[in-house]
Amino acid sequence: MSRKISTLCAALCMTLLAVPSLAAPGTVRDVRIPIIVTESERAYMLAEMREFLHGLHSIQLALARGDMKAVALVAGPMGSLEHKIPPALKDRLPEEFLQLAIGQHEVFQVIARDAEAKQDIKHTLGQVAEAITYCSGCHDTFRIQAGRIKPAVR
Ligand code: HEC
Repeated sequence: MSRKISTLCAALCMTLLAVPSLAAPGTVRDVRIPIIVTESERAYMLAEMREFLHGLHSIQLALARGDMKAVALVAGPMGSLEHKIPPALKDRLPEEFLQLAIGQHEVFQVIARDAEAKQDIKHTLGQVAEAITYCSGCHDTFRIQAGRIKPAVR
């Protein structure tokens, strides 16, 4: 086996060990913090999430073409989750969740600004990786669960 292939295998093994859901199906405990929302709020939040994934895809395509204007056009409105969350729902979201949403929003703003100003694909790729740490960080911490909302105490 060539050195390159054995390095690749070692990396794959480490990934499998690091990702419990791949290593041992059925034995993984979901320890993420549940965020209880209504069924329609859940549908709304997940639809916003899928938009993020579409956005990341469009950014990758634009970067592959070296089209920095398109990167800026897509990244600008992205990550605005915390702006789009209806106030009644926002009040019920954990502070850490909001902080991650705000952090992600800021990174996408910088991506949009730098894409046009610097025209540097490598620089933007690094920033996109930084943005994805917010996706992963939040996904590792929270899950969304539809349930009964307790009326606010006044
Ligand atoms: C502030 C927290 C947060 C951030 C930031 C975040 N997500 Fe999510 N996302 C969630 C939560 C919570 C779920 C629901 C997970 C669950 O209930 O299992 C979710 C679910 C998803 C889903 C599944 C949607 C579905 O229909 O089930 C996708 C896709 C997704 N996110 C993409 C992204 C991408 C891409 C990013 C970064 C650009 C991102 N998210 C950033 C919290 C976040």
